[in-house]
Amino acid sequence: MCGIVGYVGDQDAVPILLQGLSRLEYRGYDSAGVAIHTEEGVRVHKVSGRIADLVAGLPPGFAGAPGIGHTRWATHGEPTAANAHPHVDMSGQVAVVHNGVIENAEELREKLAADGVEFSSQTDTELIAHLIASALEAGAESLERAVRQALHSVVGAYGLAVLEAGHPDRIVVARNGSPVLLGVGDREMFVASDAAALIGYTRQVVYLDDGELATITAGGYRTFTLEDRSTAKTPSTIDWDVVGAEIGDHAHFLIKEIHEQPRAVERTLKGRIDERFDTVRLGGLNLPVREAREFRRVKILACGSARLAGEQGALLIEDLARIPASTESASEFRYRNPVVEPDTLYVAASQSGETIDTLMAVQELRRKGGRVLGIVNVVGSTIAREVDGGIYLHSGPEISVAATKSVTSTVAAFALLALYLGRMRDLSPAEGRRIIDGLRALPGQVEEILEQTEEIARVAADLAHCTDVFYIGRRRGCPVAREGALKLKEISYVHAEAYSSAELKHGPLALISPDTPTVAIVPDDDLLAKNISTLSEIRARKGPVIAIAHRELPADLADHTIIVPKNEPELDPVLMCVPTQLLAYHVAVALNRDVDKPRNLAKSVTVE
Ligand code: AGP
Repeated sequence: MCGIVGYVGDQDAVPILLQGLSRLEYRGYDSAGVAIHTEEGVRVHKVSGRIADLVAGLPPGFAGAPGIGHTRWATHGEPTAANAHPHVDMSGQVAVVHNGVIENAEELREKLAADGVEFSSQTDTELIAHLIASALEAGAESLERAVRQALHSVVGAYGLAVLEAGHPDRIVVARNGSPVLLGVGDREMFVASDAAALIGYTRQVVYLDDGELATITAGGYRTFTLEDRSTAKTPSTIDWDVVGAEIGDHAHFLIKEIHEQPRAVERTLKGRIDERFDTVRLGGLNLPVREAREFRRVKILACGSARLAGEQGALLIEDLARIPASTESASEFRYRNPVVEPDTLYVAASQSGETIDTLMAVQELRRKGGRVLGIVNVVGSTIAREVDGGIYLHSGPEISVAATKSVTSTVAAFALLALYLGRMRDLSPAEGRRIIDGLRALPGQVEEILEQTEEIARVAADLAHCTDVFYIGRRRGCPVAREGALKLKEISYVHAEAYSSAELKHGPLALISPDTPTVAIVPDDDLLAKNISTLSEIRARKGPVIAIAHRELPADLADHTIIVPKNEPELDPVLMCVPTQLLAYHVAVALNRDVDKPRNLAKSVTVE
């Protein structure tokens, strides 16, 4: 969603801001802008459209520092240049970029209008600029103080950065419910809403907490609260590199990330296998064995693809640890006043670690005393910092809006958790060894599937002519089917629905026809006969079938079989997901879609 970048130092801020903003493009946005400090005061340049449009329209001599920049994903007010950030007060002294939503915007607007303020946009952000300017006019002796005073009258979520004319040495930032981090450079400082913006500049970052502000100058930073109590913050190091965040020779980030899966899964497993005891080491869980043995249930909370990975996770936990486990959409959970049980282990899964519904579910759990772990990719993200412990995916930056490598890594992380919980209960060393061997085989087997990319692209070419596609699977195949359907809808805009194979004849079978293909997940397991009988029912209605299976299915059952290598039954779903990603990708390419930035979608959903 919206993105913030800021720079203080000796260099011209403009190229740094533009570079940072392009690194945030993946989050989704519809307008963008920058504001810089110059000798003539604060200069602002903004457009409705892409960063390329912003660059193309840069006024001659537009240079200066410090500077702040923003990509906006319209929520309040149209995606016009006027509504794009930065916003300035009436005198043009104060410029603000803001992520989040101000809840008492209408009340503030009325008050400011009564004081004679004229508005130049429909946004809630502009109100913050006016509030800060009013505080300065009323005698606030510093920008910090004015920002604190302004924020005392604001109700809502914000991550913001503020620049003031006449103060070329600083930017003031604040966070409440929307991520802000500081980047520590050599005689220069950065601010961003997402570490991706800082890649190539610094790896030393300071994460602000809710209710915290900071002043950044070229020489360093000071963090403090709304009441001006200083807070002590030390930088941590991010492990992402430039290569991980760049597209290289690939046509899209999505295909790059699909192909990164073998290495991503390897990194999720790295250093965690305990050969000696046929189990795993998960130091980050912060969960003593005695306590871990007490849990009688596991409840997984997540959204979108992370939720579907969580569904696979629940099955793994039930299978390996024999603990009843279930997955729920974090947004449903948080709004239904959930009963939080002391003997339930809660697990929040999120690639970004910033998804608002998942974060709110975590906070609700913590308020009610629940024990909550996180399975998160982005190190230092808000969810990662709010949970009691967890497992980092270490998959590297996922730039494309559609989740791929984070999904396979999340399932691998759940397998580690399941194995850990299983081995401290009744899972035998031999069974532990079987799963460990299976986990170790995953990267090589994903490679084997990726070698079939061309063939899968040919199958996708046929799917691209369809308007509706069914995805079916049974038991562990169900979440794979659901994830496959989500991926297809999301990036190709082809309507797709997923059903448990057994559910087909309870209704959807009525829609099967020669024009409605079915992608069927058909592992070679104890339910193979059942799956074959479902395929026969589809074929009897002349429905085309693409099977994802362990061996070639006869032509009377499937038009195409995409063969995936066999692993352990519990881990097969990880592999079966990969062809569904490739199918969705190639359908989207065939339909000429904006693969990495599908319409209406953002990478991390940080507002409701
Ligand atoms: C997946 O392709 C989606 N773009 C989306 O469903 C995503 O998984 C969801 O928004 C959750 O994101 P998170 O993992 O960052 O919490």
